[in-house]
Amino acid sequence: MGRQLSFSIFRYNPNIPGDAPRMQEYKLEEYEGMTLFVALNDIREKLDPTLMFDFVCRAAICGSCAMMINGRPGLACKTMTGTLPSRINLMPLPVFKLIGDLSVDTGTWFRNLQVRTESWIHTNKKFDPEALEVRMENKTAEAIYEPERCIECGCCVASCITANIRDDFLGATGINRVGRFLIDPRDERTDAEYFEVVGSEEGAFGCVGLMACDDNCPIELPLQQQLAFVRRKMAQAGLKLDLKGMKIS
Ligand code: SF4
Ligand code: SF4
Ligand code: FES
Repeated sequence: MGRQLSFSIFRYNPNIPGDAPRMQEYKLEEYEGMTLFVALNDIREKLDPTLMFDFVCRAAICGSCAMMINGRPGLACKTMTGTLPSRINLMPLPVFKLIGDLSVDTGTWFRNLQVRTESWIHTNKKFDPEALEVRMENKTAEAIYEPERCIECGCCVASCITANIRDDFLGATGINRVGRFLIDPRDERTDAEYFEVVGSEEGAFGCVGLMACDDNCPIELPLQQQLAFVRRKMAQAGLKLDLKGMKIS
C-alpha cells in the first residue's frame, strides 16, 4: 500500500461572485510512478470535479502545468510525487493573471513579451522563395537552438524577485530570448537597437543576479550564462552611447 498523500490546494475562482481565496485539503493514496499531474487528475475525477489546473502535453513540452509546488515553481507533469514529502502544498504561479485555482494566464504575458522583444528576424533582405537556403555553421545553429528550447512555462518569472515586484520586467525568459537573436547572423539589428529593447531596468539591468530563474528552469536552460552574455553586450553598447545624441558610434 502506498503513502497517504495530503494535498493542500489553493482554491479561488475570480469569476464566481463572492468566492474567497482559501486552501482546500484532499487525501489520496500514492501509487508507483505517480506524477503530480496524475494526482491532480485523480483528485478531479474522484474527489472534486471543480478543481482547475492546466495541462496539454503531459511530457514537459507545452509548459502549461507549471505551479508552485511546496513553495517552488515546477511542472506538475514532470514532478514525481515520490520526490515530495507526503504533505503537498500547491499554489498558482505568482506574477501571471489568475484564471482560477491553479490555472494562470501565461499566454497573454508571453504574447506581450514576444511583441516587446520583437522576437522575429529583422532583415532588409527581400525574401526570395526560389533562392537556395543559406547554410549556417553548426556551432551557430546549436547556440541558437539552445535558448529556443524555452517552453514558456513561466517558472523563471514566478521565482524572480524583480518580476514579482515590477510587472514590466522581461524576466530571464525575455532576456534569454534577446540573447538568442543577438547571436543570429540573419538578424540585422544593431547593438543600439537591442539596447532599446533590453538595456534598461525593465531588461538586463533590472536583474539582481540571484539566479532563482536558473535554479528553477525545469528544462535546465543555461539562464545564468544567457543573462551574463546579454548584460555584458548591453553594458558594452551602453558605454558606446553618445550621451547627448544617445547614438552608438
Ligand atoms: S537572476 Fe535576474 S532574472 Fe533570474 S531570478 Fe534573479 S533577478 Fe530574476
Ligand atoms: S526559461 Fe525555463 S523556466 Fe523560464 S519560461 Fe523558459 S523553460 Fe520556463
Ligand atoms: S502538461 Fe505540458 S509541460 Fe506539463
